[in-house]
Amino acid sequence: MIQQTLLDDLHARIIADNPCPELAQQATQLVMGAGNANADIVFIGEAPGKNEDEQGLPFVGAAGKFLNEMLAAADMRRDDVYITNIVKYRPPNNRDPLPEEKKAFWPYLLQQIEIINPKVVITLGRHSGAYFIPDLRISADHGKPRKVRYGDKEFLVIPLYHPAAALYNGGMRQTLIDDFLMAAIVARTV
Ligand code: URA
Repeated sequence: MIQQTLLDDLHARIIADNPCPELAQQATQLVMGAGNANADIVFIGEAPGKNEDEQGLPFVGAAGKFLNEMLAAADMRRDDVYITNIVKYRPPNNRDPLPEEKKAFWPYLLQQIEIINPKVVITLGRHSGAYFIPDLRISADHGKPRKVRYGDKEFLVIPLYHPAAALYNGGMRQTLIDDFLMAAIVARTV
């Protein structure tokens, strides 16, 4: 599949360019993303955590377990979609990614999206959401699709809360599930 080859090339290029040497130095490995390189839906989280850093795969810890549950509820498998993060190395001690780290990885994320060419980008949390929607107010805007355009590419962005934020908050958990199921319907109809 050509897309996967292009993603593998991009993966190698990020390692060679080393846009964030401080993060790269203390991380186990770059976490590029996983799933269907030809997917209609791309999920974008913040940055790898401890489990992701160890396994080299996105969303494989507690937040990933919740993401898997929501995918299953929407009748989707991880292999149907593509999952990645804006920042591709684990920040030390799971701190929030810094603005300069997000900025350094942003051009690579755009190239990744350009290769996959999805219909819908679903952002998980404000770090990736605010990069696509600069005036994002997650409490007001969660679950609301917005059309965005980069060059000649146009797609829908649906900003959702981060699954980790909803893990221990019952109200937010249900909001995220509701948003997720709605986003799945939108993604199937565009
Ligand atoms: N949180 C994220 O934002 N991304 C991951 O890959 C794991 C947890």
